[in-house]
Amino acid sequence: MNSTQRRAAPVGIIGCGPAGLFLAHLLHRAGIGSVILESRSRAEVEGTIRAGVLEHWVTELMHQMGLGERMAREGHFHTGITLQWNRQRLHLDMEELTGGKKVTVYAQHEVLKDLIAARLADGGEILFGVADTAIHGIDTDRPFLTWRDGAEGEAQRLDCDYIVAADGFHGPGRQAIPAAMRTEYQKIYPFGWLGILARAPLSWHELIYANQGEGFALLSTRSPEIQRMYIQCDPRDDIANWSDARIWDELQARLATEDGWQLQQGEIFQKGIIPLRSFVCEPMQHGRLFLAGDAAHIVPPTGAKGLNLAVADVLVLSRALEAKYRRNDGEALARYSATALRRVWKGERFSWYMTTMLHRNADETPFEQRIHLADLDFVRTSRAAAMALAENYVGLPFDE
Ligand code: FAD
Ligand code: DHB
Repeated sequence: MNSTQRRAAPVGIIGCGPAGLFLAHLLHRAGIGSVILESRSRAEVEGTIRAGVLEHWVTELMHQMGLGERMAREGHFHTGITLQWNRQRLHLDMEELTGGKKVTVYAQHEVLKDLIAARLADGGEILFGVADTAIHGIDTDRPFLTWRDGAEGEAQRLDCDYIVAADGFHGPGRQAIPAAMRTEYQKIYPFGWLGILARAPLSWHELIYANQGEGFALLSTRSPEIQRMYIQCDPRDDIANWSDARIWDELQARLATEDGWQLQQGEIFQKGIIPLRSFVCEPMQHGRLFLAGDAAHIVPPTGAKGLNLAVADVLVLSRALEAKYRRNDGEALARYSATALRRVWKGERFSWYMTTMLHRNADETPFEQRIHLADLDFVRTSRAAAMALAENYVGLPFDE
């Protein structure tokens, strides 16, 4: 039998998603070393289609890290969003409502490609395709990670000061906190999203969030030639039940307006269904283990917050680790969970609000359905309500 290969790094990170990669970059800028373990291949990580909207400060952070060049060239800067119901549209000028902030539509996997390339160019270590990742000794001051280089590969061990589980909702990180020490809060929605990528011209200059006909639809974009769209569906539905013609019919119905605007159709080349849930694990830290991103919390995608919350966690965590390594000040590290959770719960609230307001839910009473229409009308008629929505959408200020 092979013996275990052993090495050390200050911070061991599980997961090469947005949380793990932003953390590795932020730590590197602070002079703190890390190693990322990732169970998937680089091609899989870089090929998975997920989120698309970056909050204002995330775009700025990418630039500060020297990683914004391709995003500035290929991303789309949106100064507003459009809400639609009853075949009427409401334009929210987010830039005006928030005093100059906007969002960038730049796909998550493009962000990951940029971060992976830059990390490897900096000499950073990302180990792809690892198997049997396990977390040890988080209650001691010398925790460690073990894994294999692939299913049949050599056994490896990384000794660290701290372990960060940025391993997504299904990773082993959260389970490493003893069940008696954590509380999980969850809401499962009775609908999912059917997402498509289509080769089609741009139909509208802004994202449209619509609640019309059979429910929610979202018009987004990836490039002048490729468009991203979603429709509310049964989360247990089989994608085989959705022919391209049926998808276009639903999109046309849910996005139709009174003014002769026409949704541009094209060839659908990718489609899939995701369930929607809200989930929070408290606390986000135990001993020397810290949770970040989807490992600790999930939002339904209607507010475009999933990726942004993951980056916010690791910004707080990297600053706390920097204070500990530079000045031996562990106060911010001890407060990490409480600090991160304040922003997480506001992200959960906004995502729940956008989701319930913009979907048709047969489980709700007619009373609740009327309340959501009143919510939409409130945004239409009240500048304060429109400002609150816009402030959340572009990204709340940090309050540490
Ligand atoms: P992840 O991106 O999940 O990264 C975790 C990484 O850890 C993965 O690469 C995984 O392979 C790795 N990992 C897991 N277990 C192990 C292990 N044992 N060992 C080593 N590595 C491991 N958000 C939006 O805002 N809008 C959207 O449209 C949207 N669409 C989504 C569609 C899907 C199918 C999913 C799953 C999520 C979507 N999200 C969306 C959410 C958003 O993409 C996530 O919030 C974001 O990816 C969170 O980043 P993360 O780094 O925390 O986790
Ligand atoms: C996209 C995804 C979202 O969840 C959202 O709210 C807006 C845009 C997208 O994939 O483009």
